[in-house]
Amino acid sequence: MTILCALTRGSMVATAIVVATGSALAQSGEVNVYTYRESKLMQPLFDAFTKDAGIKVNVISASSGLEQRIKAEGANSPADVLLTVDIGRIEDAVRAGITQPIKSDVLDKVVAPQYRDPEGHWYGISMRARVVYASKDRVQETALTYEDLADPKWKGKICIRSGQYIYNNALFAAFIAHHGEAKTEEWLSGLKANLAQKPSGGDREVARDIAAGKCDIGVANTYYWALMLNREAERKPWAEATKVILPKFKDGGTHVNLSAVVLARYAPNKANAMKLVEWLVGDEAQHMYADLNYEYPVRPGIAVNPTIAGYGKLDADTIPLSKIAEYKKAAANLVDKVGFDN
Ligand SMILES: [Fe+2]
Repeated sequence: MTILCALTRGSMVATAIVVATGSALAQSGEVNVYTYRESKLMQPLFDAFTKDAGIKVNVISASSGLEQRIKAEGANSPADVLLTVDIGRIEDAVRAGITQPIKSDVLDKVVAPQYRDPEGHWYGISMRARVVYASKDRVQETALTYEDLADPKWKGKICIRSGQYIYNNALFAAFIAHHGEAKTEEWLSGLKANLAQKPSGGDREVARDIAAGKCDIGVANTYYWALMLNREAERKPWAEATKVILPKFKDGGTHVNLSAVVLARYAPNKANAMKLVEWLVGDEAQHMYADLNYEYPVRPGIAVNPTIAGYGKLDADTIPLSKIAEYKKAAANLVDKVGFDN
């Protein structure tokens, strides 16, 4: 009896192994990811995915031109997934015709409607907020609105990068979504009048210039401050000279933007691509976005990194990013009209 049981169990185990091997073979393979995101940031995620799913990730990374490349490759494109940041670039990919809708109950459940395309062409997988860096010594305020940035009390005290840079373009488009074009033009003129210097540099330089006393406050993304504080020893003093304030719209919340995923129109490894995009919103990947990239996880219930949590609780604006994208062009026109970058 005992022997029989052992044999039966033995053969069941043997069968189970055969099935597992069979399915492991079926799942093996590759997925080709085109990414604008630094591979340094993304590689740990891909390695973890490969470990979990047994699917090799081939990465092609570039700082520009990936949509054009996929478009030029046409139906023969090896691209399965494109990872990109900022609603402007995301919509560019969709407009280039290189995407196909993602149909996934998993993603629909995890990703709130304001962080995905109504047609399913893109899904946000993590968020960043566009906030204010302020001098620890010279700025007493602990709360601000975006509208406040045009208040003459800040005259000669604000630093910011180009008004046409995608992050600012999205913020200004969000301002239009809240207030309309006429009010936004007025606000942009006011903000321009408050600038300490011509728009220049990137978000890190905002902290640098505040630390150097050139300005008191500036506009930048949430993750740069955390990177400077924790990972960039030579820039740590810039973070230490500043504090992060999460501004809000008077009639809304803090402006957030996305890093997102799109499924390539001719994805040759579509099944594997779907496994990857669903994995990216899972617990493990979302923790990595929070702790390696200092972004806000799109999946509810995943803790933000302690440095980011130190900014205070994020009350994200609720206007859908797809709506904000509709005002991108108008925002770019206003920047030219008020001579913001001149
Ligand atoms: Fe960035």
